[in-house]
Amino acid sequence: MQNNIQNNLISWYNQNHRHFPWRETNNPYYIWISEIMLQQTTTEAVIPYYIRFIETFDTIDKLAQAPLEEVYKLWEGLGYYRRAKHIHETAKFIVENYHGQFPTTYQEILKLKGIGPYTAGAICSIAYGFSTPAIDGNVLRIISRLYALTDNIALSKTQKKISQIVSELLTGYDASAFNQGLMDLGATICRPLNPQCQQCPIASFCKAKQTGQEKVLPISIKN
Ligand code: ADE
Repeated sequence: MQNNIQNNLISWYNQNHRHFPWRETNNPYYIWISEIMLQQTTTEAVIPYYIRFIETFDTIDKLAQAPLEEVYKLWEGLGYYRRAKHIHETAKFIVENYHGQFPTTYQEILKLKGIGPYTAGAICSIAYGFSTPAIDGNVLRIISRLYALTDNIALSKTQKKISQIVSELLTGYDASAFNQGLMDLGATICRPLNPQCQQCPIASFCKAKQTGQEKVLPISIKN
């Protein structure tokens, strides 16, 4: 196996990943629910809500048939209640337009309520293995450091550039492990403050580390 960024990250993920209930399935419906819950909520807080939700509504059909109040009840305490409304509307839409089967292309998934490029990319890579990047703040930070990019990550131009870089890295590799490897790396090692480079599986490729800029990068200037 070639010693490169992708293989190092993927092997590290396969051996060291954090265990979450949504990582025990590739059912696109369950992945979708987890990704919506994880949009504004920490992994620890999501776990019990995710388990209860998919136990109660084990299929899209059951979710679509439930009254909205029951969905809200299961969401109570998670916050950002619009997410629950969108999930319920989307479940009904999927029953009507896709016979209750979660759509299977990036473009169709991106059109669903409450789903933007990050969530569509995460669902497609995790559930279907598509080479779709899932770019969030963690990934912007990791890629800025890895290539010592001094571009302002608050700009959409920079975000597009980083999305292109991740796209090229991903293609031909296990996209689910790659994207979730970046999520775990960002959460546990390549942290905003005091990155733990001595534990990083891709430190030997990191331009920021090589040039002593790991605590300076990324540059994020919001106007
Ligand atoms: N945050 C968003 N998606 C996630 C996932 N699949 N695993 C862990 N954290 C996440």
